[in-house]
This record gives sequence, structure tokens and C-alpha cells, in this order.
Amino acid sequence: MELKDKILNKTAHIGIIGLGYVGLPLGLAFAAKGFNVLGFDLDERKIKFLEKSKSYIKHISEVKIKKVISNGKLKVTTDFSKLPKVDAIIICVPTPLDEHREPDMSYVVNTAKTVAKYLRKGQLVTLESTTYPGTTDELLQPLFENAGGKNKFKVGKDFYLAFSPEREDPNNPDYSTVTIPKVVGGVTPKCLEIATALYDQVIIRTVPVSSPRAAEASKLLENIYRSVNIALVNELKMVFDKMNIDIWEVIEAASTKPFGFKAFYPGPGLGGHCIPIDPFYLTWKAREFEINTKFIELAGEINTYQPYYVVEKSGEALNKFKKALNGSKVLILGTAYKKDIDDMRESPSLKLIDIYREKGASVDYSDPFIPILPRTRKYKFDMKSVKLTKEKLQSYDLVVLSTDHSIFDYKLIANSSRLIVDSRNAFEARGIKSKTIFKV
Ligand SMILES: NC(=O)c1ccc[n+]([C@@H]2O[C@H](COP(=O)([O-])OP(=O)(O)OC[C@H]3O[C@@H](n4cnc5c(N)ncnc54)[C@H](O)[C@@H]3O)[C@@H](O)[C@H]2O)c1
Repeated sequence: MELKDKILNKTAHIGIIGLGYVGLPLGLAFAAKGFNVLGFDLDERKIKFLEKSKSYIKHISEVKIKKVISNGKLKVTTDFSKLPKVDAIIICVPTPLDEHREPDMSYVVNTAKTVAKYLRKGQLVTLESTTYPGTTDELLQPLFENAGGKNKFKVGKDFYLAFSPEREDPNNPDYSTVTIPKVVGGVTPKCLEIATALYDQVIIRTVPVSSPRAAEASKLLENIYRSVNIALVNELKMVFDKMNIDIWEVIEAASTKPFGFKAFYPGPGLGGHCIPIDPFYLTWKAREFEINTKFIELAGEINTYQPYYVVEKSGEALNKFKKALNGSKVLILGTAYKKDIDDMRESPSLKLIDIYREKGASVDYSDPFIPILPRTRKYKFDMKSVKLTKEKLQSYDLVVLSTDHSIFDYKLIANSSRLIVDSRNAFEARGIKSKTIFKV
């Protein structure tokens, strides 16, 4: 049977490589629609969790996992020799930056080599990891063509290849994997036809584009747009502060314009796997064409400065009470990169801890979703989340609101803390004002 027919009658087997924030919900979506899904990951801990129907991501419910594990629609493995069993392979592995802030393509390359080792005729491969334009046709396509050995595999005939960027927004109550339209670019028209047919089975709407490059670039545009606009409000926040104007009030007023304005909000800096990282994939690729990505660099500069700005303003706030950062006890509220999630990758809170410590403060943190700060490539903190009580809060010279989790008891924090620096306008938004709360 042709692959497209198998997809349309839901007998196609789907392989998902990388069962993280992107791959796991996607695998669950296919399994919930009745497809047989085989999830692959190198991380044995994740595989063991899933086999026991347990979730390792806060906002992904165990009920959903249990349903498809117990009815056999989702199976998981670390054994990549099972790749030939599936008809479509969807790659959702990380694309971070290395220590020189250049693309670290090792996860994609290693995965592509494994796929190439087991690739069989008739399979579809789609890449979802955010990356620079050209990855699919320059990097993946030749590897897969050579998988045919002497008689090279022909793309669009022997195998199908496409790029379809993930737009996951973890814990967004309004949108989930299946309700976010999905851009798809195929290497050939046949690749596009088959990849579109696949995603049409589970996603509300697919948006076909002319090539994988257009699809890769569309994802970068989305994230660069956010990075640049966040940088703009962060800069305006600093300018307006000097003029004694409240940026939050200004944004609220501007947002009443019914057209031509989209609100972005300032904060302690960018976080997460996407916005602080993805724009620099384009910067790197643009160098090949002797082009500088000035907007991206400038936005990066302003956004990277924000944790330093928060610390600077903290010093000023303490100074008003005849205190210095050096020797102060500081509590950071929230280490996740955004509210109500358990993901602390690239979180500005980590940078804040680092800078406050550098300034001579002793630092604790409280985040109900992150009980222990795991080691990252950059930071090796050995810290446990502090439980918030009146007595505990009173023991700090400074409490810094970095992530505005809904679960925090803002009244308790406001009433018990000696001094608060609020980088998210979290207190005033809840009607809590005080001379000891400083918005930054
Ligand atoms: N997290 C998001 O909100 C989000 C949103 C849109 C796009 N993306 C993009 O999606 C991609 C994946 O991000 P994520 O957040 O899901 O990452 P993640 O770290 O949560 O998950 C990636 C998974 O891949 C596994 N893995 C790594 N190398 C592997 C290999 N060679 N073979 C098999 N498994 C391997 C890891 O063990 C991990 O479980 C990235 O390119 C990211 O930029 C992420």
C-alpha cells in the first residue's frame, strides 16, 4: 500500500525521535487519533517513566499517557534498530547553542546519521527541530540519499523528506499541539503532499510552503519577531523609568488600539529553549552570505542586559534602606523561564542567582515546580527550593520576583517580605501596592 493511503486510513506507523517538550505531546496526539506510535529517546529514564505511564513534564497529564500506553497505541524504546518498522519518522531533538553561541547541530546530525543507517524505501522523514534555513536539504538530504548505498536513494521517490517547525507553547491554555496550525515544506512536491497528509490527520490546519527552507525561515521569523519586540519594550522600560513613567501602564493604554499594535511585556530577560537561541541560528547562517543580522544582535544585547538591570535596580532599592547587596540575603521567586511551567532552560533566574552571588549576596530560591536546580551546561548550582512561610520570607533582606507563577501567595509575600523587587508587575496586577515593592 502507498504511504499516503496508509496515512489516510491511519494504518501508518509513526516514529517520534526525541520525547521532550515537543516530541511527547506530538506522539500522544498521533496515538490518541488511533495511529500506532513508536517513541524513541536516548534517555532511558524518560522511557522508563513512560512505560510506567508516568509523566516527566508537569503540564502533560498522566491520564493521557496512561490511555495510549495501556491500549498499546504508544510504545517507547531506546532501540533505534526498530526504525524500519515505522512508516513516518518525526525528529524532535534539541538544537541549542554551544559555548561560543553558535548552533550546536550535534543532536540533529547524530539523529540523522542513525536514521540514515536504518532508512528503508518508502519512509517519510520530517524534521521539527528549530534550525537555520538549509538544514533539511543541505544536511539531511545527502545523508539519506547515501543511505541507498551504491544505488543512491532518490528523494521524492525512494523516501520523502520535509521540514515542519514545532510551535509548541508549553502550558498555553488556549492552544495545544493539535490546535496550532502547522507550516510544512517538502523537498519535492510529492514529499510535501505526503507530509501534509500526515499532519492533516492530527493538526487543525496545515500550511504548505514552497520548500523546507521557507518553513525553516518561517519559524525563525516568528521567534526573531518576539525577541526584537521584547527587546524594544525592555529598552522602553529603562527609558521610561528615568522619566518616571510606568511602562506597564503605557502598554496597557497602547493595547486599547484595535489594530496595528501587539503587546509585548518587559521582564528580567529571555528564557526557554527558543527565543534566546533560535535567532542566532540565522545570524550564524547569514555570515555565510556576508550579511550581519543587526536587529537580532541588538535585541540580543538588550535582552541579555536585563538580569544585570534587575540587579542594578535591586542595589538601588536596598540603598534606600541603607543596605548593600554585598552581605544581603536574597530570595529569588521562580526559576522556571515562564509562569506555571517546570522548564528552567536558559531561565534569566539562573543568571540572576549568578550575578547576585557575584555581588556578595547569599541567594536562595523558591519555585514549587522546580524542587531542585538541576545542573546545566553553564551553572552548577547546588540548591533546593525554599518553602515560603511568613518567618522564612521575613529572614531575607530582598525578595526578587523573577517568574510570576500563579501559585505564589502574593499577599503573604507582600505582607511578610522586607523589600521586594518585582520584574513582572505581578503585585500591582493583583492590586497589591506598597512602598517596599519596587517594580523594575
Ligand atoms: N520546548 C518548546 O517549547 C519548543 C517549542 C518550539 C520548538 N522547539 C524546538 O523543538 C526541538 C526540541 O525541543 P524540546 O523542547 O522538545 O527539547 P527537549 O530537550 O525537551 O527534548 C528533546 C529530547 O530529545 C532526546 N534526544 C536527544 N538526542 C537524541 C538522539 N540522538 N536520539 C533520540 N533522542 C534524542 C532528549 O533525550 C530529549 O528527551 C528544539 O529544536 C526546539 O528548539 C521547542
